[in-house]
Amino acid sequence: MAIRNVRYDTDEVLRKRSREIEEIDNKIRELALDMIDTMYKYDGVGLAAPQVGILKRIIVIDPGTGPRVLINPVITKKSGSQTGEEGCLSSPNVFGNVDRPKTVTVEYFDIDGKKQTIKAEDLEAVILCHEIDHLDGILFLDKAYDVYKLSDEEIEAAKREAEELERKEQEKAKKNKKCKRK
Ligand code: NI
Repeated sequence: MAIRNVRYDTDEVLRKRSREIEEIDNKIRELALDMIDTMYKYDGVGLAAPQVGILKRIIVIDPGTGPRVLINPVITKKSGSQTGEEGCLSSPNVFGNVDRPKTVTVEYFDIDGKKQTIKAEDLEAVILCHEIDHLDGILFLDKAYDVYKLSDEEIEAAKREAEELERKEQEKAKKNKKCKRK
């Protein structure tokens, strides 16, 4: 397993259409594992193969429930709508609002070549739409509005703030547990 180099938004490879995967061989399995490592390394919730320079239809996602590999994913149903802030590992520090469906149904092949169907909603639906767009050379910035960019210092400050909040919540949870024990 290895961390792959992430391509950034001026890179032409991000604008090309990725090809279907015809055979899930060891090379594809290795790519999938590397993509999962790379996604976690940069605190991402999803990554598409073109973002590591490979024009093949494979994405990895983790909406907080563990990693999932989707090969040749196709959105077969969309419904509702939601708007949320998105970012992308290929556009560091840039964020913007994007309108997406509320729920999507996606057909794909898993890493064992088994055909699967997933019905996703909320954040998971957003991630799937965002990553599948990458396979067609579409970036979230093509669809985003109210776009803004943070400096590295602002990103660090936001991270520290989130960590502090999490620490406080954990402390609170501990205290609650103690109270209940009495
Ligand atoms: Ni992205």
